[in-house]
Amino acid sequence: MKNLIFVWSVLFVFIGCNQTPKEKQDTSQSVDSIHSEEELYRPNFHFTPKTGWMNDPNGMFFYNGYYHLFFQHYPDGNVWGPMHWGHAVSTDMVQWRELPIALEPDEKGYIFSGSAVVDMENTSGFGDGSTPPIIAMFTYHDPVGEKEGREDFQTQAIAYSLDEGTTWTKYEGNPVIDNPGIKDFRDPKITWDMEHKQWLMVLAADDKTMFYGSRNLKDWDLLSEFGKGIGAHGGVWECPDFFPIQVENSDEVKWILIQSLGPGGYNGGSGTQYFVGDFDGKKFKLDPSMENLSEKHKHWIDYGKDNYAGVTWSNIPDSDGRVLFMGWMSNWQYANKVPTETWRGAMTVARELRLKKVGDIYRVYSLPVEELGNYISKTYDKELIEVENTVKIATSANIDLAKAIIKYEFALSQNENYEFRLSNQKGDTLKFGFDKPKNQFYLDRKKSGITSFNEDFANKVSIAPRTSKSEKISVKIVLDKTSIELFFDNGETVMTEIFFPIAPFETFSAAGKTIFKIEKLKINQLKFN
Ligand code: FRU
Repeated sequence: MKNLIFVWSVLFVFIGCNQTPKEKQDTSQSVDSIHSEEELYRPNFHFTPKTGWMNDPNGMFFYNGYYHLFFQHYPDGNVWGPMHWGHAVSTDMVQWRELPIALEPDEKGYIFSGSAVVDMENTSGFGDGSTPPIIAMFTYHDPVGEKEGREDFQTQAIAYSLDEGTTWTKYEGNPVIDNPGIKDFRDPKITWDMEHKQWLMVLAADDKTMFYGSRNLKDWDLLSEFGKGIGAHGGVWECPDFFPIQVENSDEVKWILIQSLGPGGYNGGSGTQYFVGDFDGKKFKLDPSMENLSEKHKHWIDYGKDNYAGVTWSNIPDSDGRVLFMGWMSNWQYANKVPTETWRGAMTVARELRLKKVGDIYRVYSLPVEELGNYISKTYDKELIEVENTVKIATSANIDLAKAIIKYEFALSQNENYEFRLSNQKGDTLKFGFDKPKNQFYLDRKKSGITSFNEDFANKVSIAPRTSKSEKISVKIVLDKTSIELFFDNGETVMTEIFFPIAPFETFSAAGKTIFKIEKLKINQLKFN
């Protein structure tokens, strides 16, 4: 275990070199001296690399009982650097085992984000007849070309694995897609298009998504483009995903295009929007209900600041049928500065995405995967809690608030503000809740602990418009040491954010000016080996 004083003095010197005088003033924030970085900040169950830097999830596929997660990784430093694909596997998307690095940069460039598919029919011809080849597609980012000021330094390439994703061979014909003169041209995500019997690939290209088709995963034809002037455009589009999904309680199938962008997220910095529509094998057509998206009605997978570049797993068996998603739990505004040293970056919990039609609007709902429920060690229930002023709901005497799932509902009443708080005796408080007059949820980490490493981290309270019309608001909260994932209204509105308290949170409480009722409270304690 690292010596705390050493870690924090290194961090202080490191930050000190990069800080403006204004940032330097705030040295009052320091971690509780009895806690090391590992103890205090290494998540209990969210994936982090053992050491080094991590950003986007990549190449997620399921095969032979294992969920594979690759990730943007710089193993030799704790800030972004020459990108590799790290690798981890899990049998349940909850507990992960990190494996050796899968793809390393080479003379063609860094290995940027991308995806992987299981080529069951050996359409690529890479198979040896004994096992289906796994094909990874990624972006080569050539740092030399970038330095020279060229436009064409990002190209698309493939690699294959004949041992279920453990080792990889880069294709000698790379790149398989040359750069057409677009500076930001990256992050290929492949899907098998069952209806039109083709491999489909979406690529982020500056301010739009480009759609490609292929029969063999090597030769790709440009099919169409989507997105210029549609949706949010506060920054470059990155990391798209595109897949069919059945509308809940109907036979209707729609296509969802997920499209991250940065900056320009709903609460600033990185964010992930989605579009719902139809696909004819060539072109994506936005559903008429999503045309003329006003600022308020743009659709975001997550309104919190820390869920970026999320995509779905490929090759999930029909017998399962879920659409499974995971994102990177950080934001480019401050990702390189968050106060951990040994590693930097964590993933969200895996989530199931569903599409529901409410009135004539299609909405994506997300909820944590049910597998998390297998780790419940005890449950604390309460049918009814009346809140007036402040009420303690749970404390660390009975619940470890750094590995818990909390569920409850509250009915809207005369009360205007419905607030919930996590706090410790050092004075750190994380607040979230619902502001009835404004009809919006909020998440406030201004006083949640260490915040001074970057001014965009906690300068504003994050908000999310409520779209559900229900009289009751349901809340599901996934809590780890340094993250909160809030699923309101059964996952209709989601907010994910990270925080760095100087000591663990000890108390969970609620506050309201006039009486309101918390119903069906369930606190599930999670336990991991
Ligand atoms: C998104 C992103 C991708 C790129 C990768 C580089 O976070 O910028 O567009 O491929 O990170 O690490």
